[in-house]
Amino acid sequence: MASIKRIAFIGGGNMAEAMIRGIIKAGLCNKKEIFVSDVSPDRLRHFNEMYGIETRSGNKEVLKLSDLIVLSVRPFVVDSVLAEIKDQFDPGKLIISIVTGIPISRITEGIDKEARVIRAVPNLPVLVGEGLSAIAPGKGVTEEETAWISSLFNSVGRSVVLEEKYLDAVTGLAGSGPAFVFLILEAMADGGVKMGLPRETAMLLASQTLMGSARMVLETGEHPGSLKDRVASPGGTTIAGLHRLEKGGVRGTIISAIEAATIRAGELGRR
Ligand SMILES: NC(=O)c1ccc[n+]([C@@H]2O[C@H](COP(=O)([O-])OP(=O)(O)OC[C@H]3O[C@@H](n4cnc5c(N)ncnc54)[C@H](OP(=O)(O)O)[C@@H]3O)[C@@H](O)[C@H]2O)c1
Repeated sequence: MASIKRIAFIGGGNMAEAMIRGIIKAGLCNKKEIFVSDVSPDRLRHFNEMYGIETRSGNKEVLKLSDLIVLSVRPFVVDSVLAEIKDQFDPGKLIISIVTGIPISRITEGIDKEARVIRAVPNLPVLVGEGLSAIAPGKGVTEEETAWISSLFNSVGRSVVLEEKYLDAVTGLAGSGPAFVFLILEAMADGGVKMGLPRETAMLLASQTLMGSARMVLETGEHPGSLKDRVASPGGTTIAGLHRLEKGGVRGTIISAIEAATIRAGELGRR
């Protein structure tokens, strides 16, 4: 969007850093148009030295310098940050909140009833440019602005635009999902080690197998069930392993894990 020129990040943690790297790499903004505020002088120094970005220790100061504000603090400080910047906030500016579990209504209640807010749920792989971010535009956010914000999150992976009511389920699936996948990956590597493979080799095999399989689904658009059938030959090794997985209730367990994480996301969003 043409009118978004300058972005301020309030909270210069891991997610802010991943987004800033993506924004600069994709050429969405010049580093001179990005500002960061944080309570930690070490983090401010890091942004300054590593990326040549202007930093401030006061959240109000970066507010004045920007057209778009990214709230990238932890959920337990968001209310106090909103109270702190409220007086300086110009409702013409757009806010992106990546604060886990905090609904748009809580942001507007805390800063300005007329504030235009986009809530985003990115996941951990944004740190390596392979994230999934779900974006929910609030009241007054234009399609053009949503498209620009999508390109911002596409710079660190892929993004989808959804209604806010779906974001707890996104948190349960894609937000918590990397932890579920890490656990599965570790178990696969343990299986390889049990059968005599060196640990490092087993980890490489498990990671590449997971990544390659996910890419096949994304790139071919083929149903995972039909891809599974292509691997499982009659009376072969794969069907023997699949039978064990089904006996262990792996599908039901994974569905329940996503259900539990979604329910918990909803609980955390309520004060
Ligand atoms: N990491 C993920 O996978 C992930 C995924 C999706 C969404 N999120 C959400 O994204 C947000 C940021 O996550 P993160 O992993 O980047 O967290 P983080 O690394 O802890 O970054 C938050 C930063 O904000 C600073 N901060 C604390 N109080 C502040 C204040 N009053 N004003 C300005 N800055 C302040 C923190 O400093 P101190 O450390 O000194 O307190 C820290 O540097 C969180 O709400 C998180 O739940 C994270």
